This record gives sequence, C-alpha cells and structure tokens, in this order.
Amino acid sequence: MPCRIMAVTNQKGGVGKTTTTVNLATALAASKRRVLVIDADPQGNASTGFGLEMDDRDDDLYQLLSGQVTVEAAIHQTAIKGLMVIPSTNDLSAIEIELSHYDDREYRLKTITDALRADYDYILIDCPPSLGLLTVNALTAADSALVPLQCEYYALEGLSQLMKTIEAVRGGLNPNLELQGVVLTMYDQRNRLSSLVASDVRSHLGSLVYATIIPRNVRVSEAPSYGKPVLLYDLNCPGSKAYIALAGEVIKQEGQAA
Ligand SMILES: Nc1ncnc2c1ncn2[C@@H]1O[C@H](COP(=O)(O)OP(=O)(O)O)[C@@H](O)[C@H]1O
Ligand SMILES: [Mg+2]
Repeated sequence: MPCRIMAVTNQKGGVGKTTTTVNLATALAASKRRVLVIDADPQGNASTGFGLEMDDRDDDLYQLLSGQVTVEAAIHQTAIKGLMVIPSTNDLSAIEIELSHYDDREYRLKTITDALRADYDYILIDCPPSLGLLTVNALTAADSALVPLQCEYYALEGLSQLMKTIEAVRGGLNPNLELQGVVLTMYDQRNRLSSLVASDVRSHLGSLVYATIIPRNVRVSEAPSYGKPVLLYDLNCPGSKAYIALAGEVIKQEGQAA
C-alpha cells in the first residue's frame, strides 16, 4: 500500500485537530498500520498527548526543519507499537521567520516526508491554528487534508476560508492535494445546535463528511493529562469507539484515492 500523508488542518483553534491526530493515529496503528505523527504546532500538544516529556524532545521538528538534526534522530518511538512521532516544542514558533529566508521555504517538510514514504502507511501532520508557512508546508507535503470541524455555529464559515487555502495550494505548490474528509467533532447529543450543525454540514459537503461523528466525551479530554491517547486511557469509552470507527473509514478509503 502506498503511504498516505494527511495534514490534519483547520485554521481555527480548539476544534479537535490534535485530538483527532493523536487518536486516529493510535487507532490506525492498532490496525497494524505503520504510522508517523508529525507535530507541526509549536504548542506541542500532540507530543504531550503521546506522553513525550520536554526532556525527551531534544531532537524536534524545529531542529529537523532548520537542518540541525537528521530525520532518524527526530523520529521518536511512542508507547504504541508501530507509532512514531516527530515532536515539537515552542522553539518551532521561530521557524516561520527562519523558513522565510530559504528558497525552498514551502517545500522543506515535503522533502523530509517524501523520503519517509517507504517506511510508513500513514503520516499525519498536526497543523497549528493558522494558515502560515507551517500549514503551507504541511499542505504542500500532504496527499490530502483531513479537516476536523467542531459542531458549533460558525463551523461552516471557517471552512470556506480553509477551502480557499486548499484551492490556492492546489493551484501552485501541490496540484495533487485532495480533501481526505471532514470529521465532525465534539458532538453533544443533548445540544440541538450540534445536530443542526451536523446536518447543515452534511447537506453542504455530502459524502466528504465521515459517517462517524466524534462525541463530546470527558474521557477524551482527560487522556492527554495522563500522556496517553484515549484508546490507551479508556478503550471502551464512546470517544475511543468513535476514533476506532473513524480509522475504519479511513482504511476503507485506501485504494479508492485517485
Ligand atoms: N471529543 C472530545 N470530547 C471532549 N473534549 C474534547 C474532544 N475533542 C477535543 N476535546 C478537547 O477540546 C480541546 C481542544 O481540542 P484540540 O484537539 O486540542 O483542538 P485543536 O488541536 O484543534 O486546537 C482540548 O482540551 C481537548 O481535550
Ligand atoms: Mg492542536
């Protein structure tokens, strides 16, 4: 199976990008896929979510992108078999300015990830909440964008801006960029707005929206403070079940991609 590189992206913060990256990656690894997570957010939440202490993040994405360490050094094993991570720290916040001095500024990450395709089935890039150079690097490196959308009132509004960015990247830096899918997150059954937003998004985007909806579940939000993906923290909670189902849908897409 060819490697699939997915940028998990939405310029809005707090919509479930990191949670989706960490838990989808874990569920894919549990299905015996070889998975690499690249933490491309200076906040380093995905690294924290896998339990990587600051002391363990010496060789991070910042050092890799700025050419100070090898990719072998930057790839860290997680507690999960078959699941690796390139961590980040706040140092990464300096990279946007540094990158702007390079001729290959939009392609730095792509050069790294293309060389890793033989080693992984999936590479998931956890993007920062902006459309700056880091996100542009992620969208240039990726085969597809996976977009978490929180079930709230302005969900669709932010999406049109993201779609314009994806179109712009397609028009130049990465003509092959696809939309992997949109995943509805933090769905609250008791909240009528959640279901209204969900049906509104489905009527606009149809089959681009995964059937699986990620419910709002306190176990999901507790897990990172234990340095664990929710699947390891509480395998049977609704959040874990949803991410396992989402991984099933992503795996079904294998071979369907153009
Ligand atoms: N399904 C969920 N149920 C409950 N809390 C969630 C869920 N998904 C995410 N969260 C919480 O919402 C906050 C934002 O999620 P996060 O994944 O960090 O978003 P982003 O990466 O887009 O900024 C975090 O505190 C996270 O634990
Ligand atoms: Mg995040």
